[in-house]
Amino acid sequence: MTTPTSRPFYLDCDTGIDDALALAYLLASPQADVRGIGTVSGNVSAAVGARNTLDLLQLAGHAHIPVAVGAHDPQGGTFRGGAPHVHGANGIGEVSLSTAAVELAPETAAEMLVRLAHEHPGTLRVLAIGPLTNIAEALRLEPELPRLVEEITIMGGAALAPGNITAVAEANIANDPEAAADVFAAGWSITLVPLDVTMANVLEESHRQELLAAGHPVPQALGEMLGYYFRFYEGIFGRACSAMHDPLAAALAVGGVQAAVAPAVRVAVDTTDGPGRGQTVCDLRGLYLDYPEQAGARCRVVLALDGDFAPRLVEVLLSLSEGTTAALASAVTSPA
Ligand code: BDR
Ligand code: CA
Repeated sequence: MTTPTSRPFYLDCDTGIDDALALAYLLASPQADVRGIGTVSGNVSAAVGARNTLDLLQLAGHAHIPVAVGAHDPQGGTFRGGAPHVHGANGIGEVSLSTAAVELAPETAAEMLVRLAHEHPGTLRVLAIGPLTNIAEALRLEPELPRLVEEITIMGGAALAPGNITAVAEANIANDPEAAADVFAAGWSITLVPLDVTMANVLEESHRQELLAAGHPVPQALGEMLGYYFRFYEGIFGRACSAMHDPLAAALAVGGVQAAVAPAVRVAVDTTDGPGRGQTVCDLRGLYLDYPEQAGARCRVVLALDGDFAPRLVEVLLSLSEGTTAALASAVTSPA
């Protein structure tokens, strides 16, 4: 959606149930003008993620947004098959969407990012909600990228919280620590949205029911997908609900919610083969000193939110219906 105050966005994702929520959030936000989307292997392969993205875009009435397939394998490794236990075998909770009759973009995700950065110098915003393989590749293609991009928001890492893949590593970083290390070392303005804040903001069953009751295919499909996601998170939280990793990063990127605590600190990624592999080592020693300025620190690490995100997320997702038609209601099939 383009308005006088909207910013051009490039989204990099591994769609993914919470990626689908983030995409819908961006599409519903007048502050965001999504100019292109690249996919990367993470929750599913980059190719399956692209399929899901195209189908979601069609469902939302935004099939004109180009989608590029990005890296299948992480730097120096091979894709390990994704997270079907979290997102379902198809990545979107076994919900079937109508197949969009749209071609993929004739460029890689990294090439798309570099192209968009040149088309929108100094104003392009990047939202990265999957492993950082494509972003690192784009930095290799265009070393000036950090000066061309206004801001990159990354869902990933764990600052003071435990990891969700190992004791210390979060999935997006753990899936490609070498790429993440390159991205954090590139000297650009980063907002990091780690597990510390995404696990602390939970979507409840009552919110899911609001989406299901919307009478519109996009929130309905998201509500169906969340049924699968909630079953995974029930094992963690002890009730039907879920974390809100990627949509929270989307909301912070567009200014739909504000951070209450987000110190700018140095962040490094552990690329050793020991137990620390994939850890985002955030220098939070300023915790007791009100976070004094750290020389060269350009990464804001979001540790707490100002306000309750779940009602805001539901409100924004329900507003998406204004941009689509009821005729699309037949395009989604619930899981058996
Ligand atoms: C992150 O990993 C993926 O499974 C989610 O989509 C999210 O981006 C959470 O650790
Ligand atoms: Ca993701």
